[in-house]
Amino acid sequence: MRKRLIVGNWKMNMLRKEAYELARGIAELVGDVSYVDIVVAPPYTSLDVVYGVISNTNIGLCAQNVFWEEAGAFTGEISPYMLIDAGCKWVIVGHSERRAVLGETDEMVKRKVAASIKAGLIPILCVGETLEQRESGKTMEVVRGQLERGLDGVELFSSDSIVIAYEPVWAIGTGRSATPYEAEEVHLFIRNVLDRVFEGIGDKIRVLYGGSVTPENIEDILSPPNIDGVLVGGASLKAESFARIVRLAGRIG
Ligand code: PGA
Repeated sequence: MRKRLIVGNWKMNMLRKEAYELARGIAELVGDVSYVDIVVAPPYTSLDVVYGVISNTNIGLCAQNVFWEEAGAFTGEISPYMLIDAGCKWVIVGHSERRAVLGETDEMVKRKVAASIKAGLIPILCVGETLEQRESGKTMEVVRGQLERGLDGVELFSSDSIVIAYEPVWAIGTGRSATPYEAEEVHLFIRNVLDRVFEGIGDKIRVLYGGSVTPENIEDILSPPNIDGVLVGGASLKAESFARIVRLAGRIG
C-alpha cells in the first residue's frame, strides 16, 4: 500500500513572519494527521522558523532546491547536509520553474537527486510536458526522457528513497488541472518506466500529481489508482485550503 502524500510548495512566497503564521495554521488544523503524509516546502529563509513550529507534529519539512556538492566554494548554493541540518527530510528537485527560468538540465537534476539520496534526503523529482509538447503528441517521450536522464545511475536504498511528481507545465498555476484520466495515463506510464529503471519496484514508489490542485478538485484527482498524492502550489498558501486538501485526501481510497 502506498500511503498518500500531500506536499505544499510555497515557492518564492512568505516572509518569515508570514511563514510562521502559515505553518502554525497548518499545524493547528492537521498537525496530528497520520492517515496521509504531509510535507511543506517553504523558501530557504523560512526553513528554520517553520521547523520550529512543525518539529513536534506529523508535518515534514522540505526544501525547494539543493546543490549536489557536500561543501566548498559554491557561492550561493546549499548542500543536502545543510538542508538536513535545518530540519529537512525532503527536497523538491527539477521543478519546471527551475528548468524553464533557471536553465536546470536533466544532468543537473540527476546530480541533485543522487546527492540528496546519498545524504538521506528524499528527493521529489518533478517531470512534465509543456502544452506544445502535449499537443504534438510528445508527452510520454518527454516524461520518459526526463525520468531516464534524471535517474541515470541513481541508486535507491528502498522504494521510499524517492518520490516522483508529474506536473504538466500547462497545468501549473493556470487553474487548468489535468483531468484524472489525463493524469492517470501518464502516472501509469511513469510507473512502468520506474519499474524498468529500478527493477521491479515501480509499483512501490509514490507518484504525485501537481498542477492547479484545489480543495474542489482533489477528490477527482486522487480517484485513479496510480495517483498517490499531490504537490500543491497556490492552494497551499492558505492554511484552511491546504488543510481541506489534506482531509479530503484522507477520505478517499
Ligand atoms: P499550482 O503549482 O498548484 O499553483 O498549480 C503546483 C506546483 O508548481 O508545484
